[in-house]
Amino acid sequence: MGIQFKNVGYAYKVFKKSYDAIKNINLNIEAQGEFIAIVGHTGSGKSTLVQHMNALLLPNEGNVIVFGQQLPPKKSEKINYLRQKVGLVFQFPEYQLFEETIIKDIMFGPKNFKETSSHALESAKRAASIVGIDESLYEQSPFRISGGQMRRVAVAGILAMEPEILVLDEPTRGLDPKGRNDLMEIFKEIHEKENKTIILITHDMDLVSEYAKRVIVLSEGHIVFDGKKEDLFTHPDFNLYHLDYPTPLKILKHLEETIGLPFEPKYDFSSLLAYLKEVNHE
Ligand SMILES: Nc1ncnc2c1ncn2[C@@H]1O[C@H](COP(=O)(O)OP(=O)(O)OP(=O)(O)O)[C@@H](O)[C@H]1O
Ligand SMILES: [Mg+2]
Repeated sequence: MGIQFKNVGYAYKVFKKSYDAIKNINLNIEAQGEFIAIVGHTGSGKSTLVQHMNALLLPNEGNVIVFGQQLPPKKSEKINYLRQKVGLVFQFPEYQLFEETIIKDIMFGPKNFKETSSHALESAKRAASIVGIDESLYEQSPFRISGGQMRRVAVAGILAMEPEILVLDEPTRGLDPKGRNDLMEIFKEIHEKENKTIILITHDMDLVSEYAKRVIVLSEGHIVFDGKKEDLFTHPDFNLYHLDYPTPLKILKHLEETIGLPFEPKYDFSSLLAYLKEVNHE
């Protein structure tokens, strides 16, 4: 069933004026197996778009259908359960940590969705182990660990609700390269092991190139591209999107222009290196 957007528009109201943030959005996202990157300039509507996916925002125009539930809902319908089905990790999620211990913080979501305490604890422990938070940290304060670990605790809090779709709003922003790679590998593993659909907002084209299968490009609240990653970087309009090329493709283009190395697209560093080794041996 997944998520569908049908002619969706949303405008923020500020002092009685309204400002369109997204317009005419049509989308179909499968419940399983997708790895989608959402990219676009700051202010292009990425965060606004994804907040419609778990009913944090309700459309002013058109409809969003999340696992069969139409939004906006009919008056009597409860929609809170969608927050569990579609787990949304906000920008800087560590700002939302608040409990006195790490394990209590991770358990907060599942407890809130009326799971029994023992089941909530079990879910929290499983989520903590997925993000690599060791048992010895459970009883510590979430405010006395490193920024990277705080980010993991916040992600675990969402994973503990066992969402069917995981939406990540710039999850690696502000992390050092190792923290960034470690976290991305965790998402990749969740995607590969459980076939979960992952939706990732990022400004980092290297992450898009390495991890995403499908890319949605937003510009001024409109979708200007929605398709396979491979088709994005070769698209005749690519320059109009004001996006950067990923580093491996930049290197390969440079090598083609300078030493005439045949251009073969590679989307991550290990395949780039393998290719360079291969041509070196020929
Ligand atoms: N709470 C709000 N009130 C009023 N306007 C808002 C609000 N949140 C966002 N906007 C406006 O809506 C538009 C889209 O914002 P949004 O945060 O969705 O963009 P974004 O693509 O996520 O940007 P960024 O890359 O900076 O996170 C922008 O013009 C922004 O100023
Ligand atoms: Mg944003």
